[in-house]
Amino acid sequence: MKAVVYKGTREVAVEEVPDARIEKPTDAVVRITTTNICGSDLHMYEGRAGVEEGKVLGHENMGVVEAVGPAVDRVQVGMRVSVPFNIACGTCRSCNEGWTSFCERTNPVDGMQGAAYGYANMGPYDGGQAELLRVPYADFNLLDLPAGPEHENDFTMLSDVFPTGWHGTVLADQQPGDRVAVFGAGPVGLLAAHSARIRGASEVFVVDQQPDRLKLAAHADCTPVDFSEGDPVQQILEATAGLGVDCGIEAVGWQAHDPTGEEHPELVLDNLVSVVKAHGGIGVVGVYVPQDPGGPNDLARDGRPAWDYGSFFSKGQRMGTGQAPVKRYNRQLRDLILYGRANPGFLVSHELPLDEAAAGYRNFDERLDGWTKVLLHPDS
Ligand SMILES: NC(=O)c1ccc[n+]([C@@H]2O[C@H](COP(=O)([O-])OP(=O)(O)OC[C@H]3O[C@@H](n4cnc5c(N)ncnc54)[C@H](O)[C@@H]3O)[C@@H](O)[C@H]2O)c1
Ligand SMILES: [Zn+2]
Ligand SMILES: [Zn+2]
Repeated sequence: MKAVVYKGTREVAVEEVPDARIEKPTDAVVRITTTNICGSDLHMYEGRAGVEEGKVLGHENMGVVEAVGPAVDRVQVGMRVSVPFNIACGTCRSCNEGWTSFCERTNPVDGMQGAAYGYANMGPYDGGQAELLRVPYADFNLLDLPAGPEHENDFTMLSDVFPTGWHGTVLADQQPGDRVAVFGAGPVGLLAAHSARIRGASEVFVVDQQPDRLKLAAHADCTPVDFSEGDPVQQILEATAGLGVDCGIEAVGWQAHDPTGEEHPELVLDNLVSVVKAHGGIGVVGVYVPQDPGGPNDLARDGRPAWDYGSFFSKGQRMGTGQAPVKRYNRQLRDLILYGRANPGFLVSHELPLDEAAAGYRNFDERLDGWTKVLLHPDS
């Protein structure tokens, strides 16, 4: 089969690799119809996440079940499915408590809980930027979708970015009527903002400096804040008569930068502590890492951003962090799409055949104007 293979820093290629196949009785194989490039893939693409050469990438996958192992009895060949990016066993302590993102059994890397397709340090699993994908524990992991081609660009957000954005609002403990600040207008931030709207926010500020992304934020009925035009905290304080917001969401990650592009891993955390009210919640879904050999200083390289913990404590704020447990939300989010209450596909900017993946990665990585979310279609 054809697959997107990591070749080295800023280099991916579409190559022939062995077909994905049933390896354990509980597996299924899915024929991929749509697989997205994610901001998380860029951490690997940029050589900042220690992924091994030859890895098949891709953790945002959907398609049609091609084959099932002998122990699979819910999932049927021919079912249209969304594949959560978390690979979870369904029976460990974390899975039983609904935290599939911290599955204790699927990641063999020492000290790591939680596994994913095609990702550094997330287990030996190939990704789905390919014609076929092997899905472990298929009965537990796969979400069924209505057959046919409808809502493909909305449903493809169910494997990661829509549940992740939603998770940000849950970690921030967003309540109806809240004013919300979302930092980052990438796919995750935009869908956190969309989620905040659906959950009844009165006003949602979205901070970024990319004009095309800020335009999408406005399109999603939010207030764009351009951090290249001045301190975003001041801008939001001015817009709220000095009150700030009830809660905030971090959708940027450790490579947060200032308007000149210089990285400051503590920058957005500090902004959130300043702009969120005392005793307000902060949901951090942007990724921070325990080690970053490419970080701008010793602390950053050791995964210890020097953020304003003192003010955070003094304000009695709360913070939730971590990879999203997709299965906690994806069924309900699917039904919001089906009933016309959510349309996360609004952020799709480009749809490419798998063969054009390298250009998709390059343009998305350079954040070329208009490259917000790239979908790959192996079957086109
Ligand atoms: N927790 C999870 O389960 C999970 C899942 C998917 C992605 N992620 C992470 O979420 C983050 C966002 O993902 P994405 O796909 O939207 O990525 P992305 O790279 O497309 O978007 C990040 C955005 O942040 C903006 N930004 C940079 N510095 C900023 C600053 N100082 N203030 C405001 N905005 C700033 C960039 O301009 C960019 O538009 C990444 O770290 C990704 O790894 C986490
Ligand atoms: Zn992703
Ligand atoms: Zn588990």
